[in-house]
Amino acid sequence: MTTASTDSSTGTAEHGGLSRDISAKAFILSSVMFFVISTSVGLLVAIKFLWPEFMGNTPELTFGRMRPLHVNGVLFGWLLAADMGLLYYVIPRLCGNRLWSEKLGLFTVIAFDLIILGAVFTTLGGITQGLEYAELPWFLDIGVTVVWVLFGLNIFATIATRKHQKMYVAIWYTMGAIVWTAFVYIVGNFATELFSGVNQANLNWFYVHNAVGLIFTPLGVALAYYFIPKQASAPLFSHKLSMIGFWTISFIYVWTGAHHMIHGPISQWLQTVSIIFSAMLIIPVLTVIVNFFGTVSGRWEQVRRDPILKYLMAGTTFYLLTCFQGPMHALRTVNAIVSKTDWIVGHAHMAVLGAFSFFAIAGCLYAVPRIAKKPLYSEGLANTSFWLMFTGGLLFFVALWIGGFIQGLQWNDTSIPFIDTVRFMVPFWWTRLVGGLLIYTGAILFLYNLVRTFTYEVPAPQESPPTPARSKPAKAAV
Ligand code: HEM
Repeated sequence: MTTASTDSSTGTAEHGGLSRDISAKAFILSSVMFFVISTSVGLLVAIKFLWPEFMGNTPELTFGRMRPLHVNGVLFGWLLAADMGLLYYVIPRLCGNRLWSEKLGLFTVIAFDLIILGAVFTTLGGITQGLEYAELPWFLDIGVTVVWVLFGLNIFATIATRKHQKMYVAIWYTMGAIVWTAFVYIVGNFATELFSGVNQANLNWFYVHNAVGLIFTPLGVALAYYFIPKQASAPLFSHKLSMIGFWTISFIYVWTGAHHMIHGPISQWLQTVSIIFSAMLIIPVLTVIVNFFGTVSGRWEQVRRDPILKYLMAGTTFYLLTCFQGPMHALRTVNAIVSKTDWIVGHAHMAVLGAFSFFAIAGCLYAVPRIAKKPLYSEGLANTSFWLMFTGGLLFFVALWIGGFIQGLQWNDTSIPFIDTVRFMVPFWWTRLVGGLLIYTGAILFLYNLVRTFTYEVPAPQESPPTPARSKPAKAAV
């Protein structure tokens, strides 16, 4: 058993002329704004499934451009940026020092946000590489790569100059994610251009799957490894287990991308390799699940009351379900039913929204009051937004699983005309829209809560009578 690290932050409030945590604050706020904007685009795309003529025939507003706008917006504008901002907050605290350079940190925030804004214009303008998740044109890809290298430099320099010698597991996962992301992003966005046909598809699926497995998984798990013990005020269940998880994920994940092409035009041995490694993924996943549940065990009453822990533990549960589904999808028989159906869209949203976005949201709710040095504006609002996103998410995922599975069975039945399988999905797409509206409302409340936390005035202390605490104060700011 080992304890979570302490928040031993030392030094003055100013660092190189910039206040502490300024980069974390800027990244978190801009990412949450992109969360709300990109989720609203998701809603528009969902409406198009029900009324294909919705928003007319203007090329910029067609499905083929709005869908990648939504996907890139949530993945990069929101999730990656939020994870980067939260790591600017977490890593210095785990190292017992300050971020190596707040100036460099702030530069990465501004540059990354400009890239995302540029991506809005290129995506809507139809300037795209035409590969899933890799739609950004080459000049923006170069920008992303430069920002990532500078981000990595800042984090590695912070770790190299640390005061705490112990390397907590969140640091391992962060270092791994920085190296893996560079590799995966370069393969997905530059190397794919050098190939064509099946080889290009194989590289693209390597990228798509590892974008989730070697970018968002280690980043999300790193954050949860920090925030769960912190928020539960509990020691981590097992440091040894966390190390087994880290080394097994680094060995297993890269081999799984080809499971997107099962029954496709790639060699059988490559498909079989991807199936075997997909099944082996259960090992690192179980280390994470056992560790997170073990850490909060006996503290369920605290989880029930606390919105941050609720997000973290719901995220852990969604992570378990996602990673149970994944290896199942890779089996040839199951794959023949669910591949390319709406089931996969339900699965993808459970991973990136239900698991990794929930970890990031919990991190924002934890870090923002501490950066603002005052309690969260409203714990009630945080609870409401949790229940909206949780209920909306469940409606969304379950509807697409049920509809998608039956859709897959129908596709395998050659006596059913394709158009009937489309009509069959309409009630499920309606349910997704309702779930999406709940998620969107939750996202707006979440943004409002964070912005108000920075802006509300703390009442000045009075001599007598004593100032009552805010109705439901969060834990004291650090
Ligand atoms: C209001 C909430 C949302 C709605 C209504 C929504 C809707 C949609 C729709 C309609 C698609 C296209 C599906 C298709 O082509 O068949 C999609 C794709 C996707 N969305 Fe969302 N979305 C929402 C929120 C989010 C969030 C918050 C995330 C991530 C944090 C996300 C991540 C993705 C991803 C990764 C895909 C691609 C899925 C795939 O390739 O299988 N979405 N979304």
